Amino acid sequence: MEKFIVHGGASLEGSVNISGSKNASLPILAATLLTSEQCVIRRVPDVSDTNYMLQILQNLGAEVERASGTVVIKCEKIHRHDAPYELVRKMRASVCVMGPLLARQNRANVSLPGGCVIGDRPIDLHLRGLSGLGAQVTVEGGNVDLQARFGLEGKTVDMMGKHGATVLGTDNVMMAAVLAKGITIINGAACEPEVVDLADFLNSMGAKISGAGTPRIEIVGVTELGGVDHTVIPDRIEAGTFLVAGAMAAKNKITLRRIRSDHLNSVLQVLEQCGSEIEIEGETITIGKATSPQGANINTEPYPGFPTDMQAQMCSLFAITPGISVVKDTIFPQRFMHASELKRMGADIQVDDGTAVINGVEHLSGAPVMASDLRASAALVLSGLTASGKTEITRVYHIDRGYEHIDDKLAALGAQIDRVPDR
Ligand code: EPZ
Repeated sequence: MEKFIVHGGASLEGSVNISGSKNASLPILAATLLTSEQCVIRRVPDVSDTNYMLQILQNLGAEVERASGTVVIKCEKIHRHDAPYELVRKMRASVCVMGPLLARQNRANVSLPGGCVIGDRPIDLHLRGLSGLGAQVTVEGGNVDLQARFGLEGKTVDMMGKHGATVLGTDNVMMAAVLAKGITIINGAACEPEVVDLADFLNSMGAKISGAGTPRIEIVGVTELGGVDHTVIPDRIEAGTFLVAGAMAAKNKITLRRIRSDHLNSVLQVLEQCGSEIEIEGETITIGKATSPQGANINTEPYPGFPTDMQAQMCSLFAITPGISVVKDTIFPQRFMHASELKRMGADIQVDDGTAVINGVEHLSGAPVMASDLRASAALVLSGLTASGKTEITRVYHIDRGYEHIDDKLAALGAQIDRVPDR
């Protein structure tokens, strides 16, 4: 295993290229199962989650080549319909092979993903949607088995859950519906940009999807789909993470390149409210350290609301921002593993019932801390940049799941961050 040693007092300057979106790449890679023709997908980030997805596809029979950010996949000979536990347990997003496998093989058998540290990760909405299209669903021995002996039938399905829409659930039903007989309407669909990118990918393959990005998506089933060359959208959460790094530790300002600012409106709004100066020019954003920083109150919400995947990073910013800030995660109320580690660094954070009340302090002090999940790890790195002294972050494999070479990118901005073996 490896750990990061982050030296405090960082004074960031320069520019950083934002990678392609992990959360757009994963369902798009799964969607290649829907055709036997070659697909070329560009700007796929080199992170462990995309590597796991490629392993799952190879396990199913896909031919995969990867050269830097470009992945070439051909799912001509798919000879299985299962995603086994030893692969699914490593990456719960592998549940998004259910829809395409069902559409391709009329059968799918996927291990139940189980929970993770950010909370219980049920897939009841996925199964409601897929059974709505005619799949017979049985859950036993920790696996979910779906069969549609005579193919799937387009129907109207409602995908809304008690915590709002489901991103991967919407993806699964959309990917199942593109080859179903007739028309499918998804009500209560997730509106995230990653869902729109998947719909764009599927339409390029010959699907007939309209309404992606709104709560109502219509899919007219077709009989077959073809290969495609697609570039994945920029990663809005990586961009948001670097924006917070700039707000916390820029010498004057830092520049992010290759971003989609229209995917970041809620994050940009909060950062401006907190006093950061932000300039947007095409695919570039520049952010400066706040001259008179203010705290804020945030409720995470489904897109276009404030993203839960940016909640931990904002806690790091608020931990050193004067005044009281309140952060409520309505999507994953347990997603505050970072709080206890930030407290070890001197943060004044009280978490109760899915809400963190943060009283900003002058600065945090470096300490040995432990990464627990992807975004909590990023929050610890951000806090280490501005803390006094050194912060040792163990279990950095969590951060490598979703950030492409984050230590190299931060070092290129002037941070002092070492990746060393954790003996
Ligand atoms: C996606 O996960 C993202 N992952 C998550 O990002 C992100 O936090 C989440 O959407 C919310 O935006 C990928 O895209 C790979 P959901 P997903 O289904 O689709 C409940 C990261 O850090 N729910 O939209 O699995 C669920 O418990 C990761 O990059 C049900 O109740 O999340 C949650 O409270 C972490 N039943 C809410 O809905 C279901 O069947 C939203 O979950 C499905 C979900």
